[in-house]
Amino acid sequence: MGRTYLVTGGAGFIGSNFVLTLLSQRPDAKVINLDKLTYAGNLRNLERVMEDPRHVFIKGDICDRELLDGIFRDHDPDFVVNFAAESHVDRSISDPSVFVRTNVLGTGCLLDTSKAAWQQGDSWREGKKYLQVSTDEVYGSLGAEGFFTEETPLDPHSPYSASKAAADLLVKAYHDTYGMPVNITRCSNNYGPYQFPEKLIPLIINNCRNLRELPVYGDGMQIRDWLYVEDHCRAILMVLDRGVPGQVYNIGGHNERTNIFIVKAIISHLRELGFEEVSEGLIRHVADRKGHDRRYGIDPAKIGRELGWQPETMFEQGIIKTIDWYLSNDAWLDEVVSGDYQSYYQRQYGGRG
Ligand SMILES: NC(=O)c1ccc[n+]([C@@H]2O[C@H](COP(=O)([O-])OP(=O)(O)OC[C@H]3O[C@@H](n4cnc5c(N)ncnc54)[C@H](O)[C@@H]3O)[C@@H](O)[C@H]2O)c1
Repeated sequence: MGRTYLVTGGAGFIGSNFVLTLLSQRPDAKVINLDKLTYAGNLRNLERVMEDPRHVFIKGDICDRELLDGIFRDHDPDFVVNFAAESHVDRSISDPSVFVRTNVLGTGCLLDTSKAAWQQGDSWREGKKYLQVSTDEVYGSLGAEGFFTEETPLDPHSPYSASKAAADLLVKAYHDTYGMPVNITRCSNNYGPYQFPEKLIPLIINNCRNLRELPVYGDGMQIRDWLYVEDHCRAILMVLDRGVPGQVYNIGGHNERTNIFIVKAIISHLRELGFEEVSEGLIRHVADRKGHDRRYGIDPAKIGRELGWQPETMFEQGIIKTIDWYLSNDAWLDEVVSGDYQSYYQRQYGGRG
């Protein structure tokens, strides 16, 4: 029997990739996609499924309890997959309050609504699960050695990662206190199609194609563990299907790279494609981000061992696929950079919702 997935934040980068993957892999799935369409939400990402009867898009806020109650009444979801978040560390440093509201209170609101709909006395309705999409940033920063495991203590540094850690603890509390069936996934940095060009990889690609300066924080030696977004989406599906309730699963592909390596790799591939004016001369080192974590590295052994997940796209292929995607979707990129994508909803729906 087909299952119903309430996906929140499904017009954002990872959420839209997840919705597209889910609907293509599971013909009998139904997706209720709830997204507030902040600056990071873009319905263009979902063009392929906007007319698909298995996909219902609802513009709304995860903090809106009345709206959530209505969605649960109308659609009785089997799964809640919470991608909705404010996700950009720099923005969290300039204005933490919206991060607390969406990432913490919004998660609380989703948990309360799920609990009200799914709990029956001391037990829970069969087949229901809440999955919180979290990040390796909740673990803080690593030195040169070692990896984050699921047992690494939470030690977030930015307002973004602190709000995600707070949300994780709420999710854990609903499991420990009420026995709610939940999972938390903590993934490393994602890259791939549909990422908002404020994040490193699409920002550098876009600046290169416009021959703009390439800003690099500090010495550029910060290390991130990069995972192709489709690998993340597959991992989430596996955790939904077979993750043990109450468990946390780290997701990462052992693809640790410095930021400066990423920038140079993009320059090098673009030059191979004939962008002769793109060069390392465009790189400009700027003042480092406040409290910038130095290194993230995920140990994904548990999800490999227990659920059989392995990354499929190695960085060398993934980065080329990603650069090629942005170059062949330059209209998408231009629309996002100019802000025009925000009028798409208005044009499509005439301001409903
Ligand atoms: N991007 C990464 O590398 C990465 C890595 C690990 C975990 N994550 C987590 O994955 C999730 C998705 O990340 P992303 O990069 O796709 O983010 P994103 O910023 O691209 O998308 C977030 C989406 O959430 C929506 N949203 C924001 N506030 C909302 C609200 N109050 N109600 C409903 N919708 C709201 C936005 O409109 C947007 O569509 C986040 O929870 C993030 O913490 C991201």
